[in-house]
Amino acid sequence: MADVEWWRTAVIYQIYIRSFADGNGDGIGDIAGIRSRLGYLAGLGVDAIWITPWYASPGNDGGYDVSDYRAIAPEYGDVHEAEQLVAAAHRHGLRVILDIVPNHTSTDHLWFQAALAAPPGSPERARYHFLDGSGAPNDWRSTFGGPAWTRVPDGQWYLHLFDPTQADLNWSNPEVRAEFLDLLRFWFDRGVDGFRIDVATGLVKHPGYPDLGYREEDLLVLTDVPDHPHRDRDEVHAIYRDWREVADAYDPPRVFVAEAWVADPDRLARYVAPAQLHTAFNFPFLQSAWDAGDLFTVIDSTLRTMALSGAPPTWVLSNHDVERTVTRYGRADTRKHQGRSGHELGPVDEELGRRRARAALLLMLALPGVAYLYQGEELGLPDHLDIPDDRLRDPIWTRSGGRRRGRDGCRVPLPWTPAPDGAGFGSADPWLPQPSGWGRLSVARQVADPDSTYGLVARALRIRRELDVPQELEWVDRAGSVLRLRRGPYFECVVNLGATEVPLPADTVTLLRSDTHAEERAPLGPDTAAWLRVRDGTAEWT
Ligand code: NOJ
Ligand code: CA
Repeated sequence: MADVEWWRTAVIYQIYIRSFADGNGDGIGDIAGIRSRLGYLAGLGVDAIWITPWYASPGNDGGYDVSDYRAIAPEYGDVHEAEQLVAAAHRHGLRVILDIVPNHTSTDHLWFQAALAAPPGSPERARYHFLDGSGAPNDWRSTFGGPAWTRVPDGQWYLHLFDPTQADLNWSNPEVRAEFLDLLRFWFDRGVDGFRIDVATGLVKHPGYPDLGYREEDLLVLTDVPDHPHRDRDEVHAIYRDWREVADAYDPPRVFVAEAWVADPDRLARYVAPAQLHTAFNFPFLQSAWDAGDLFTVIDSTLRTMALSGAPPTWVLSNHDVERTVTRYGRADTRKHQGRSGHELGPVDEELGRRRARAALLLMLALPGVAYLYQGEELGLPDHLDIPDDRLRDPIWTRSGGRRRGRDGCRVPLPWTPAPDGAGFGSADPWLPQPSGWGRLSVARQVADPDSTYGLVARALRIRRELDVPQELEWVDRAGSVLRLRRGPYFECVVNLGATEVPLPADTVTLLRSDTHAEERAPLGPDTAAWLRVRDGTAEWT
Protein backbone atom coordinates (compact mmCIF):
# COMPACT_ATOMS: atom_id res chain seq x y z
CA MET A 1 0.00 0.00 0.00
CA ALA A 2 3.05 2.24 -0.08
CA ASP A 3 2.80 3.39 -3.68
CA VAL A 4 1.24 6.86 -3.64
CA GLU A 5 0.89 6.79 -7.43
CA TRP A 6 -1.32 3.66 -7.28
CA TRP A 7 -4.18 5.52 -8.93
CA ARG A 8 -2.27 5.80 -12.23
CA THR A 9 -2.47 2.09 -13.08
CA ALA A 10 -5.12 0.67 -10.77
CA VAL A 11 -7.95 -1.69 -11.56
CA ILE A 12 -10.93 -0.33 -9.66
CA TYR A 13 -14.02 -2.42 -8.92
CA GLN A 14 -17.31 -0.58 -8.73
CA ILE A 15 -19.62 -1.76 -5.98
CA TYR A 16 -23.28 -0.86 -6.39
CA ILE A 17 -23.89 -1.40 -2.70
CA ARG A 18 -27.58 -2.22 -2.85
CA SER A 19 -26.94 -5.17 -5.16
CA PHE A 20 -23.48 -6.37 -4.20
CA ALA A 21 -23.87 -8.60 -1.14
CA ASP A 22 -26.49 -8.85 1.59
CA GLY A 23 -25.06 -9.33 5.07
CA ASN A 24 -28.33 -9.69 7.00
CA GLY A 25 -30.72 -11.36 4.55
CA ASP A 26 -33.18 -8.48 4.15
CA GLY A 27 -32.81 -8.43 0.35
CA ILE A 28 -30.66 -5.30 0.28
CA GLY A 29 -26.90 -5.22 -0.09
CA ASP A 30 -25.04 -3.58 2.79
CA ILE A 31 -21.68 -2.80 4.39
CA ALA A 32 -21.55 -6.14 6.20
CA GLY A 33 -22.04 -7.81 2.82
CA ILE A 34 -19.16 -5.89 1.28
CA ARG A 35 -16.99 -6.72 4.24
CA SER A 36 -17.71 -10.43 3.90
CA ARG A 37 -16.62 -10.33 0.25
CA LEU A 38 -13.33 -8.45 0.57
CA GLY A 39 -11.53 -11.78 0.25
CA TYR A 40 -13.35 -12.41 -3.02
CA LEU A 41 -12.28 -9.01 -4.36
CA ALA A 42 -8.68 -9.41 -3.25
CA GLY A 43 -8.70 -12.88 -4.83
CA LEU A 44 -10.04 -11.47 -8.08
CA GLY A 45 -7.04 -9.18 -8.01
CA VAL A 46 -8.43 -5.65 -8.11
CA ASP A 47 -6.56 -2.78 -6.47
CA ALA A 48 -9.41 -0.66 -5.19
CA ILE A 49 -13.16 -0.51 -4.74
CA TRP A 50 -15.47 2.38 -5.52
CA ILE A 51 -18.66 2.23 -3.47
CA THR A 52 -21.74 4.01 -4.86
CA PRO A 53 -23.49 6.35 -2.38
CA TRP A 54 -24.19 4.77 0.96
CA TYR A 55 -25.28 7.92 2.75
CA ALA A 56 -28.60 8.58 4.41
CA SER A 57 -31.11 8.96 1.61
CA PRO A 58 -34.78 8.40 0.81
CA GLY A 59 -33.47 6.30 -2.08
CA ASN A 60 -35.42 7.90 -4.91
CA ASP A 61 -32.38 7.69 -7.19
CA GLY A 62 -30.40 4.77 -5.83
CA GLY A 63 -28.78 6.91 -3.11
CA TYR A 64 -27.76 9.74 -5.44
CA ASP A 65 -30.30 11.75 -3.46
CA VAL A 66 -28.40 12.32 -0.23
CA SER A 67 -30.15 13.66 2.86
CA ASP A 68 -27.11 13.54 5.17
CA TYR A 69 -23.58 13.16 3.81
CA ARG A 70 -22.16 12.41 7.25
CA ALA A 71 -24.50 9.51 7.97
CA ILE A 72 -24.95 6.05 6.44
CA ALA A 73 -28.36 4.83 5.30
CA PRO A 74 -29.61 2.52 8.08
CA GLU A 75 -30.22 -0.36 5.64
CA TYR A 76 -26.51 -0.30 4.82
CA GLY A 77 -25.01 0.14 8.29
CA ASP A 78 -23.57 3.08 10.21
CA VAL A 79 -20.48 5.28 10.22
CA HIS A 80 -18.66 3.01 12.63
CA GLU A 81 -19.18 0.03 10.30
CA ALA A 82 -18.06 2.19 7.39
CA GLU A 83 -14.82 3.03 9.19
CA GLN A 84 -14.27 -0.62 9.97
CA LEU A 85 -14.89 -1.56 6.36
CA VAL A 86 -12.27 0.92 5.17
CA ALA A 87 -9.74 -0.46 7.62
CA ALA A 88 -10.57 -4.07 6.67
CA ALA A 89 -10.28 -3.25 2.96
CA HIS A 90 -6.86 -1.74 3.60
CA ARG A 91 -5.80 -4.92 5.38
CA HIS A 92 -6.77 -6.79 2.20
CA GLY A 93 -4.61 -4.40 0.18
CA LEU A 94 -7.66 -2.67 -1.33
CA ARG A 95 -8.08 1.10 -1.51
CA VAL A 96 -11.53 2.58 -1.00
CA ILE A 97 -13.11 5.28 -3.12
CA LEU A 98 -16.48 6.76 -2.18
CA ASP A 99 -19.02 8.58 -4.28
CA ILE A 100 -19.64 12.26 -3.56
CA VAL A 101 -22.78 13.92 -4.88
CA PRO A 102 -22.15 17.67 -5.01
CA ASN A 103 -24.58 18.75 -7.73
CA HIS A 104 -27.73 18.19 -5.71
CA THR A 105 -29.03 17.11 -2.34
CA SER A 106 -32.16 15.20 -1.52
CA THR A 107 -35.11 17.46 -0.78
CA ASP A 108 -35.06 15.66 2.60
CA HIS A 109 -31.70 17.29 3.39
CA LEU A 110 -31.85 19.72 6.33
CA TRP A 111 -30.75 22.55 4.06
CA PHE A 112 -33.60 22.03 1.64
CA GLN A 113 -36.10 21.66 4.44
CA ALA A 114 -34.81 24.92 5.91
CA ALA A 115 -35.09 26.54 2.48
CA LEU A 116 -38.73 25.50 2.21
CA ALA A 117 -39.46 26.91 5.64
CA ALA A 118 -37.72 30.22 4.85
CA PRO A 119 -39.07 33.03 2.67
CA PRO A 120 -37.98 33.88 -0.89
CA GLY A 121 -34.72 35.81 -0.89
CA SER A 122 -33.52 34.22 2.37
CA PRO A 123 -29.99 32.83 2.90
CA GLU A 124 -31.57 29.37 3.25
CA ARG A 125 -32.98 29.56 -0.29
CA ALA A 126 -29.68 30.92 -1.61
CA ARG A 127 -28.06 27.50 -1.15
CA TYR A 128 -30.22 26.22 -4.01
CA HIS A 129 -31.59 27.73 -7.20
CA PHE A 130 -34.93 29.29 -6.24
CA LEU A 131 -36.40 31.61 -8.87
CA ASP A 132 -39.61 33.55 -9.29
CA GLY A 133 -41.85 33.08 -12.29
CA SER A 134 -45.45 32.68 -13.35
CA GLY A 135 -44.28 29.64 -15.29
CA ALA A 136 -41.09 27.56 -15.13
CA PRO A 137 -38.11 29.97 -15.29
CA ASN A 138 -36.73 28.38 -18.48
CA ASP A 139 -36.93 25.34 -20.76
CA TRP A 140 -34.36 23.17 -18.97
CA ARG A 141 -35.36 19.56 -18.61
CA SER A 142 -34.57 16.86 -16.11
CA THR A 143 -32.27 14.08 -17.31
CA PHE A 144 -34.95 11.70 -16.08
CA GLY A 145 -37.71 13.38 -18.08
CA GLY A 146 -40.05 16.33 -17.53
CA PRO A 147 -39.22 19.90 -16.62
CA ALA A 148 -36.20 20.67 -14.41
CA TRP A 149 -38.24 23.06 -12.23
CA THR A 150 -40.79 22.40 -9.51
CA ARG A 151 -42.93 25.03 -7.85
CA VAL A 152 -43.17 25.41 -4.08
CA PRO A 153 -46.34 26.66 -2.33
CA ASP A 154 -45.27 30.32 -2.16
CA GLY A 155 -44.85 30.40 -5.95
CA GLN A 156 -41.07 30.14 -6.34
CA TRP A 157 -39.49 27.42 -8.46
CA TYR A 158 -36.45 25.33 -7.59
CA LEU A 159 -34.09 23.67 -10.03
CA HIS A 160 -33.58 19.90 -10.23
CA LEU A 161 -31.66 18.58 -13.21
CA PHE A 162 -32.54 15.05 -12.08
CA ASP A 163 -35.51 13.92 -9.98
CA PRO A 164 -37.72 16.57 -8.31
CA THR A 165 -36.45 15.16 -5.01
CA GLN A 166 -32.86 16.06 -6.03
CA ALA A 167 -32.53 19.84 -5.70
CA ASP A 168 -29.50 21.42 -7.41
CA LEU A 169 -27.15 23.24 -5.07
CA ASN A 170 -26.02 26.76 -5.84
CA TRP A 171 -22.24 26.56 -6.18
CA SER A 172 -21.84 30.33 -6.42
CA ASN A 173 -22.69 30.32 -2.70
CA PRO A 174 -19.51 30.21 -0.53
CA GLU A 175 -21.38 28.26 2.15
CA VAL A 176 -21.96 25.40 -0.30
CA ARG A 177 -18.29 25.37 -1.26
CA ALA A 178 -17.14 25.34 2.35
CA GLU A 179 -19.57 22.56 3.29
CA PHE A 180 -18.21 20.22 0.63
CA LEU A 181 -14.59 20.86 1.58
CA ASP A 182 -15.60 19.88 5.07
CA LEU A 183 -17.37 16.75 3.81
CA LEU A 184 -14.30 15.65 1.92
CA ARG A 185 -12.28 16.00 5.12
CA PHE A 186 -14.91 14.12 7.11
CA TRP A 187 -14.42 11.00 4.98
CA PHE A 188 -10.71 11.44 4.32
CA ASP A 189 -10.24 11.58 8.09
CA ARG A 190 -11.88 8.13 8.21
CA GLY A 191 -9.25 6.68 5.93
CA VAL A 192 -11.07 6.89 2.60
CA ASP A 193 -8.61 7.02 -0.30
CA GLY A 194 -10.57 9.13 -2.72
CA PHE A 195 -13.85 10.16 -4.31
CA ARG A 196 -15.71 9.60 -7.51
CA ILE A 197 -17.42 12.91 -8.25
CA ASP A 198 -21.01 12.58 -9.39
CA VAL A 199 -22.12 14.91 -12.22
CA ALA A 200 -18.72 16.58 -12.06
CA THR A 201 -19.49 18.79 -15.06
CA GLY A 202 -22.77 20.13 -13.74
CA LEU A 203 -22.09 22.19 -10.64
CA VAL A 204 -21.95 25.67 -12.14
CA LYS A 205 -25.02 27.17 -13.77
CA HIS A 206 -25.24 30.23 -16.01
CA PRO A 207 -26.33 33.06 -13.69
CA GLY A 208 -28.84 34.27 -16.26
CA TYR A 209 -30.51 30.83 -16.60
CA PRO A 210 -31.00 31.16 -20.39
CA ASP A 211 -33.16 28.74 -22.38
CA LEU A 212 -31.43 25.76 -23.97
CA GLY A 213 -33.70 25.51 -27.00
CA TYR A 214 -35.14 22.03 -26.64
CA ARG A 215 -37.01 20.36 -29.41
CA GLU A 216 -39.82 17.99 -28.56
CA GLU A 217 -37.80 14.92 -29.57
CA ASP A 218 -34.89 15.67 -27.23
CA LEU A 219 -35.30 13.18 -24.43
CA LEU A 220 -32.16 14.01 -22.56
CA VAL A 221 -30.11 16.95 -21.40
CA LEU A 222 -28.62 18.50 -24.51
CA THR A 223 -24.86 18.51 -24.33
CA ASP A 224 -23.79 19.64 -27.80
CA VAL A 225 -24.72 23.26 -27.12
CA PRO A 226 -22.00 25.93 -27.14
CA ASP A 227 -21.67 27.84 -23.87
CA HIS A 228 -24.01 25.30 -22.29
CA PRO A 229 -25.85 26.98 -19.38
CA HIS A 230 -25.54 24.05 -16.95
CA ARG A 231 -22.90 21.65 -18.25
CA ASP A 232 -19.11 21.87 -18.40
CA ARG A 233 -18.89 25.58 -17.64
CA ASP A 234 -15.38 26.97 -17.24
CA GLU A 235 -16.01 28.20 -13.70
CA VAL A 236 -16.34 24.61 -12.43
CA HIS A 237 -12.58 24.14 -12.50
CA ALA A 238 -11.96 26.58 -9.65
CA ILE A 239 -14.02 24.28 -7.41
CA TYR A 240 -11.78 21.32 -8.18
CA ARG A 241 -8.61 23.29 -7.56
CA ASP A 242 -9.88 23.82 -4.00
CA TRP A 243 -10.74 20.13 -3.68
CA ARG A 244 -7.28 19.12 -4.86
CA GLU A 245 -5.70 21.24 -2.13
CA VAL A 246 -7.71 19.37 0.49
CA ALA A 247 -6.77 15.98 -0.98
CA ASP A 248 -3.09 16.90 -1.23
CA ALA A 249 -2.95 17.92 2.41
CA TYR A 250 -3.37 14.25 3.40
CA ASP A 251 -0.65 11.65 3.71
CA PRO A 252 -0.90 9.74 1.49
CA PRO A 253 -2.67 12.25 -0.77
CA ARG A 254 -6.26 11.38 -1.59
CA VAL A 255 -7.47 11.12 -5.19
CA PHE A 256 -10.43 11.97 -7.40
CA VAL A 257 -12.13 10.60 -10.47
CA ALA A 258 -14.64 12.81 -12.27
CA GLU A 259 -17.88 11.55 -13.72
CA ALA A 260 -17.67 13.82 -16.74
CA TRP A 261 -19.80 13.03 -19.77
CA VAL A 262 -18.11 15.36 -22.23
CA ALA A 263 -17.71 14.35 -25.84
CA ASP A 264 -14.70 16.53 -26.66
CA PRO A 265 -11.42 15.01 -25.33
CA ASP A 266 -9.88 18.47 -24.97
CA ARG A 267 -12.72 19.55 -22.72
CA LEU A 268 -12.32 16.36 -20.70
CA ALA A 269 -8.60 17.04 -20.32
CA ARG A 270 -9.40 20.32 -18.56
CA TYR A 271 -10.71 18.35 -15.57
CA VAL A 272 -7.40 16.59 -15.15
CA ALA A 273 -5.19 19.62 -15.73
CA PRO A 274 -2.40 20.08 -13.17
CA ALA A 275 -3.67 21.01 -9.69
CA GLN A 276 -7.14 19.68 -10.49
CA LEU A 277 -8.58 16.18 -10.51
CA HIS A 278 -6.37 13.12 -10.87
CA THR A 279 -8.54 11.23 -13.33
CA ALA A 280 -11.82 11.37 -15.23
CA PHE A 281 -13.95 8.60 -16.67
CA ASN A 282 -13.48 8.07 -20.36
CA PHE A 283 -17.05 7.59 -21.51
CA PRO A 284 -16.39 7.68 -25.28
CA PHE A 285 -14.71 4.27 -24.80
CA LEU A 286 -17.85 2.91 -23.16
CA GLN A 287 -20.03 4.43 -25.86
CA SER A 288 -18.02 3.05 -28.76
CA ALA A 289 -19.43 0.35 -30.99
CA TRP A 290 -17.75 -3.07 -31.06
CA ASP A 291 -15.82 -2.07 -34.14
CA ALA A 292 -12.07 -1.99 -34.75
CA GLY A 293 -12.04 1.45 -36.35
CA ASP A 294 -14.21 3.05 -33.67
CA LEU A 295 -12.26 1.49 -30.83
CA PHE A 296 -8.95 2.47 -32.35
CA THR A 297 -10.11 6.06 -32.77
CA VAL A 298 -11.26 6.43 -29.18
CA ILE A 299 -8.23 4.69 -27.70
CA ASP A 300 -5.82 6.72 -29.79
CA SER A 301 -7.46 10.07 -29.12
CA THR A 302 -7.65 9.28 -25.40
CA LEU A 303 -3.97 8.45 -25.23
CA ARG A 304 -2.95 11.55 -27.13
CA THR A 305 -5.10 13.90 -25.09
CA MET A 306 -4.16 12.42 -21.75
CA ALA A 307 -0.47 12.43 -22.61
CA LEU A 308 -0.67 16.22 -22.93
CA SER A 309 -2.32 16.62 -19.53
CA GLY A 310 -0.05 14.20 -17.67
CA ALA A 311 -3.08 12.35 -16.28
CA PRO A 312 -3.40 8.60 -16.81
CA PRO A 313 -6.03 7.42 -19.29
CA THR A 314 -8.98 5.57 -17.79
CA TRP A 315 -11.13 2.85 -19.36
CA VAL A 316 -14.64 1.86 -18.48
CA LEU A 317 -17.06 -0.41 -20.33
CA SER A 318 -19.91 -0.72 -17.82
CA ASN A 319 -21.42 0.96 -14.81
CA HIS A 320 -24.74 1.24 -13.02
CA ASP A 321 -26.10 3.72 -15.57
CA VAL A 322 -25.62 1.80 -18.82
CA GLU A 323 -26.45 -1.58 -20.29
CA ARG A 324 -23.93 -4.29 -19.56
CA THR A 325 -21.56 -5.20 -22.38
CA VAL A 326 -22.91 -8.77 -22.71
CA THR A 327 -26.28 -7.27 -23.65
CA ARG A 328 -25.08 -4.32 -25.68
CA TYR A 329 -22.52 -6.24 -27.72
CA GLY A 330 -25.09 -8.96 -28.40
CA ARG A 331 -27.11 -6.65 -30.63
CA ALA A 332 -26.83 -5.82 -34.32
CA ASP A 333 -26.01 -2.20 -33.39
CA THR A 334 -23.47 -2.27 -30.57
CA ARG A 335 -23.19 1.43 -29.85
CA LYS A 336 -24.34 2.71 -26.50
CA HIS A 337 -27.59 4.52 -27.19
CA GLN A 338 -27.99 7.58 -25.03
CA GLY A 339 -31.18 7.29 -23.03
CA ARG A 340 -32.38 4.07 -24.62
CA SER A 341 -32.07 0.49 -23.47
CA GLY A 342 -33.78 -2.86 -23.26
CA HIS A 343 -35.97 -4.62 -25.80
CA GLU A 344 -36.62 -1.45 -27.79
CA LEU A 345 -33.05 -1.69 -29.13
CA GLY A 346 -33.64 -5.06 -30.75
CA PRO A 347 -32.92 -8.71 -30.08
CA VAL A 348 -29.89 -9.78 -28.06
CA ASP A 349 -27.67 -12.75 -28.89
CA GLU A 350 -26.29 -13.30 -25.40
CA GLU A 351 -23.66 -15.82 -26.41
CA LEU A 352 -22.25 -13.44 -29.03
CA GLY A 353 -22.41 -10.59 -26.55
CA ARG A 354 -20.52 -12.55 -23.92
CA ARG A 355 -17.85 -13.60 -26.41
CA ARG A 356 -17.31 -9.97 -27.32
CA ALA A 357 -17.49 -8.79 -23.72
CA ARG A 358 -14.72 -11.22 -22.80
CA ALA A 359 -12.56 -10.02 -25.69
CA ALA A 360 -13.32 -6.41 -24.70
CA LEU A 361 -12.16 -7.13 -21.15
CA LEU A 362 -8.80 -8.34 -22.44
CA LEU A 363 -8.54 -5.27 -24.66
CA MET A 364 -9.39 -2.91 -21.80
CA LEU A 365 -7.02 -4.57 -19.35
CA ALA A 366 -4.20 -4.42 -21.92
CA LEU A 367 -4.41 -0.64 -22.17
CA PRO A 368 -2.20 1.69 -20.14
CA GLY A 369 -3.65 3.58 -17.19
CA VAL A 370 -6.66 2.82 -15.01
CA ALA A 371 -9.41 0.27 -15.69
CA TYR A 372 -12.82 0.07 -14.05
CA LEU A 373 -14.79 -3.12 -13.58
CA TYR A 374 -18.46 -2.91 -12.66
CA GLN A 375 -19.66 -5.61 -10.27
CA GLY A 376 -20.85 -8.62 -12.24
CA GLU A 377 -18.74 -7.69 -15.28
CA GLU A 378 -16.27 -10.32 -14.05
CA LEU A 379 -19.16 -12.80 -14.17
CA GLY A 380 -20.26 -11.89 -17.69
CA LEU A 381 -23.73 -10.94 -16.43
CA PRO A 382 -26.25 -9.64 -18.96
CA ASP A 383 -28.89 -7.03 -18.21
CA HIS A 384 -32.20 -8.25 -16.85
CA LEU A 385 -34.46 -7.11 -19.67
CA ASP A 386 -37.71 -8.43 -18.23
CA ILE A 387 -38.05 -6.93 -14.78
CA PRO A 388 -41.80 -6.67 -14.18
CA ASP A 389 -43.04 -3.09 -14.47
CA ASP A 390 -44.17 -2.95 -10.86
CA ARG A 391 -40.69 -3.86 -9.64
CA LEU A 392 -38.85 -1.10 -11.54
CA ARG A 393 -37.21 1.44 -9.21
CA ASP A 394 -35.35 3.83 -11.50
CA PRO A 395 -37.03 7.26 -11.48
CA ILE A 396 -36.54 7.32 -15.25
CA TRP A 397 -39.40 4.80 -15.53
CA THR A 398 -41.98 7.00 -13.82
CA ARG A 399 -40.58 10.37 -14.93
CA SER A 400 -40.69 9.33 -18.58
CA GLY A 401 -44.27 8.19 -18.19
CA GLY A 402 -43.24 4.61 -18.88
CA ARG A 403 -41.50 5.51 -22.16
CA ARG A 404 -38.03 4.56 -20.89
CA ARG A 405 -37.47 1.58 -18.62
CA GLY A 406 -34.35 3.10 -17.12
CA ARG A 407 -31.27 1.49 -15.60
CA ASP A 408 -32.55 -1.23 -13.28
CA GLY A 409 -31.59 -3.96 -15.75
CA CYS A 410 -27.88 -3.49 -14.98
CA ARG A 411 -28.44 -3.12 -11.21
CA VAL A 412 -29.75 -6.58 -10.39
CA PRO A 413 -28.31 -8.24 -7.23
CA LEU A 414 -25.32 -10.48 -7.82
CA PRO A 415 -25.75 -14.26 -7.81
CA TRP A 416 -23.20 -15.50 -5.28
CA THR A 417 -24.50 -19.07 -5.22
CA PRO A 418 -26.68 -21.08 -7.62
CA ALA A 419 -29.65 -21.07 -5.21
CA PRO A 420 -32.78 -20.15 -7.23
CA ASP A 421 -35.09 -17.14 -7.06
CA GLY A 422 -32.58 -14.64 -5.84
CA ALA A 423 -31.51 -16.70 -2.86
CA GLY A 424 -28.03 -16.75 -4.34
CA PHE A 425 -27.77 -13.08 -3.38
CA GLY A 426 -28.28 -13.82 0.28
CA SER A 427 -32.05 -13.50 0.66
CA ALA A 428 -35.11 -15.05 -0.91
CA ASP A 429 -36.55 -11.78 -2.13
CA PRO A 430 -33.91 -9.31 -3.26
CA TRP A 431 -34.93 -5.70 -3.82
CA LEU A 432 -34.76 -6.26 -7.59
CA PRO A 433 -35.57 -9.71 -8.98
CA GLN A 434 -32.92 -11.82 -10.68
CA PRO A 435 -33.70 -13.45 -14.01
CA SER A 436 -34.12 -17.20 -13.91
CA GLY A 437 -31.08 -19.25 -14.77
CA TRP A 438 -28.52 -16.99 -13.10
CA GLY A 439 -27.31 -19.91 -11.01
CA ARG A 440 -25.01 -20.96 -13.82
CA LEU A 441 -23.48 -17.47 -13.75
CA SER A 442 -23.06 -17.48 -9.97
CA VAL A 443 -19.76 -16.75 -8.28
CA ALA A 444 -19.71 -20.23 -6.72
CA ARG A 445 -19.96 -21.86 -10.16
CA GLN A 446 -17.49 -19.54 -11.85
CA VAL A 447 -14.66 -19.59 -9.33
CA ALA A 448 -14.59 -23.36 -9.75
CA ASP A 449 -14.36 -23.13 -13.54
CA PRO A 450 -11.14 -21.78 -15.10
CA ASP A 451 -12.95 -21.17 -18.41
CA SER A 452 -15.54 -18.91 -16.79
CA THR A 453 -15.50 -15.15 -17.25
CA TYR A 454 -14.41 -14.89 -13.61
CA GLY A 455 -11.49 -17.22 -14.37
CA LEU A 456 -10.55 -15.13 -17.38
CA VAL A 457 -10.60 -11.84 -15.48
CA ALA A 458 -8.73 -13.23 -12.46
CA ARG A 459 -5.98 -14.56 -14.71
CA ALA A 460 -5.81 -11.35 -16.69
CA LEU A 461 -5.43 -9.33 -13.51
CA ARG A 462 -2.69 -11.61 -12.24
CA ILE A 463 -0.76 -11.34 -15.52
CA ARG A 464 -1.29 -7.59 -15.59
CA ARG A 465 0.19 -7.29 -12.12
CA GLU A 466 3.06 -9.68 -12.68
CA LEU A 467 4.18 -8.30 -16.03
CA ASP A 468 3.96 -4.67 -14.96
CA VAL A 469 4.55 -3.62 -18.57
CA PRO A 470 5.61 -0.09 -19.54
CA GLN A 471 2.81 2.46 -19.84
CA GLU A 472 3.60 3.29 -23.47
CA LEU A 473 1.42 1.76 -26.15
CA GLU A 474 2.48 1.09 -29.74
CA TRP A 475 0.11 -0.05 -32.51
CA VAL A 476 1.38 -2.96 -34.56
CA ASP A 477 -1.72 -3.18 -36.72
CA ARG A 478 -4.97 -1.30 -36.76
CA ALA A 479 -5.78 -1.04 -40.44
CA GLY A 480 -8.44 -3.72 -40.84
CA SER A 481 -10.67 -5.49 -38.39
CA VAL A 482 -7.80 -6.71 -36.21
CA LEU A 483 -6.30 -4.53 -33.49
CA ARG A 484 -2.75 -5.35 -32.42
CA LEU A 485 -1.00 -3.32 -29.79
CA ARG A 486 2.22 -3.65 -27.86
CA ARG A 487 3.20 -2.47 -24.43
CA GLY A 488 6.97 -2.52 -24.27
CA PRO A 489 8.93 -5.05 -26.31
CA TYR A 490 7.37 -8.23 -24.91
CA PHE A 491 3.66 -7.81 -24.40
CA GLU A 492 1.15 -7.85 -27.23
CA CYS A 493 -2.65 -7.85 -27.32
CA VAL A 494 -4.49 -8.94 -30.47
CA VAL A 495 -8.24 -8.50 -30.90
CA ASN A 496 -10.10 -9.95 -33.85
CA LEU A 497 -13.18 -7.84 -34.53
CA GLY A 498 -13.65 -9.27 -38.00
CA ALA A 499 -15.74 -12.14 -39.34
CA THR A 500 -12.96 -14.58 -40.20
CA GLU A 501 -10.26 -16.26 -38.15
CA VAL A 502 -6.74 -14.88 -38.08
CA PRO A 503 -3.55 -16.78 -37.23
CA LEU A 504 -1.68 -15.71 -34.13
CA PRO A 505 1.44 -13.70 -34.92
CA ALA A 506 4.57 -15.83 -35.29
CA ASP A 507 7.26 -15.58 -32.63
CA THR A 508 4.80 -15.16 -29.82
CA VAL A 509 3.78 -17.30 -26.89
CA THR A 510 0.17 -17.29 -25.75
CA LEU A 511 -0.37 -15.90 -22.26
CA LEU A 512 -4.16 -15.83 -22.26
CA ARG A 513 -7.03 -15.95 -24.74
CA SER A 514 -10.59 -14.78 -24.26
CA ASP A 515 -11.73 -18.18 -25.61
CA THR A 516 -9.98 -19.93 -22.73
CA HIS A 517 -11.12 -23.40 -23.83
CA ALA A 518 -9.38 -23.10 -27.24
CA GLU A 519 -6.07 -24.68 -28.09
CA GLU A 520 -3.31 -22.20 -27.19
CA ARG A 521 -2.03 -21.53 -30.69
CA ALA A 522 -5.29 -22.00 -32.56
CA PRO A 523 -6.16 -19.17 -34.96
CA LEU A 524 -8.09 -16.37 -33.30
CA GLY A 525 -11.77 -16.59 -34.19
CA PRO A 526 -14.15 -13.66 -34.62
CA ASP A 527 -14.75 -11.53 -31.51
CA THR A 528 -11.80 -13.03 -29.69
CA ALA A 529 -8.70 -11.54 -28.08
CA ALA A 530 -5.35 -12.89 -26.99
CA TRP A 531 -2.51 -11.71 -24.81
CA LEU A 532 0.85 -12.75 -26.16
CA ARG A 533 4.42 -12.66 -25.07
CA VAL A 534 6.75 -11.66 -27.88
CA ARG A 535 9.77 -13.94 -28.14
CA ASP A 536 13.11 -12.20 -28.14
CA GLY A 537 15.28 -15.30 -28.23
CA THR A 538 16.31 -15.21 -24.58
CA ALA A 539 15.58 -18.14 -22.33
CA GLU A 540 13.31 -16.09 -20.15
CA TRP A 541 10.89 -15.26 -22.94
CA THR A 542 10.84 -18.43 -25.03
C1 NOJ B 1 -24.82 9.94 -12.18
C2 NOJ B 1 -25.07 8.68 -11.43
O1 NOJ B 1 -24.15 7.71 -11.87
C3 NOJ B 1 -26.50 8.31 -11.69
O2 NOJ B 1 -26.78 7.02 -11.23
C4 NOJ B 1 -27.37 9.34 -11.04
O3 NOJ B 1 -28.72 9.08 -11.36
C5 NOJ B 1 -27.03 10.75 -11.53
N1 NOJ B 1 -25.63 10.99 -11.60
C6 NOJ B 1 -27.63 11.81 -10.64
O4 NOJ B 1 -26.95 11.86 -9.42
CA1 CA C 1 -29.05 -6.24 3.98
